[in-house]
Amino acid sequence: MRGIILSGGSGTRLRPLTKITSKQLLPIYNRPMIYYPLNTLIKAGIKEILIIVSPERAGDYLNLLGSGKEFGVKFTYEIQDKPEGLAQAFIIGENFIDNEDVAMILGDNIFEDDFSEAIKNFKGGAKIFAKHVPDPERFGVVKFGADMKAEKIVEKPQEYLSNYAVTGLYVYDKRIIEVAKNTKPSARGELEITDVNNWYLEKGELDVAMVSGEWLDAGTFDSLLKAQNFAKEKLDGKMLI
Ligand code: G1P
Repeated sequence: MRGIILSGGSGTRLRPLTKITSKQLLPIYNRPMIYYPLNTLIKAGIKEILIIVSPERAGDYLNLLGSGKEFGVKFTYEIQDKPEGLAQAFIIGENFIDNEDVAMILGDNIFEDDFSEAIKNFKGGAKIFAKHVPDPERFGVVKFGADMKAEKIVEKPQEYLSNYAVTGLYVYDKRIIEVAKNTKPSARGELEITDVNNWYLEKGELDVAMVSGEWLDAGTFDSLLKAQNFAKEKLDGKMLI
């Protein structure tokens, strides 16, 4: 299993904090934000990790994280020229993925759970992780049928579908590269991860697991503040890096 951390984007919602640095390099208590998703991948046993960054900040990431040797893993870097969507990561990462399965995590997603078992037991198709949240309209949302079977994923739905947000950790088999390449940009000009998830879902190959511990997407001022306290209280003692 290969790992990707997508850490591009310009973090416009966090200006002026992100005027001179990348959102995923902002401090979350005593570590840069990206350490948390990186820790999630390393804890899950992933050793080869592609870090996708924006061109303006690439040097900062290299200075901070280096080769990966310090963390017992190997880092590869790629540039995402423009924030053209999460699914673009698999096109950028085509050579890196090299016909393996791949787990992608977003650079601003902070998880309490340990995903080693989920990743070790992955047998193809796609696996996503949902979490019950009070504000589902901010996220991709899972619509469930009567039998609690996932029926559809909708990106930032305007009408209520459920309280289950799709979190920023995704596992795919090698078909993901072709699926991403065949995806058309959405109205917001992005290759949507939700579209690739629906591709697998329509084939009956999307497994939706639940996140039991805390999960935060630190993309707004309030979630950033919440993440600081959560990192101090719950994560600090459990981090490998
Ligand atoms: C992205 C995805 C969304 C997902 C979220 C998790 O949203 O598009 O489906 O629920 O990450 O953090 P964005 O950060 O692009 O608003």
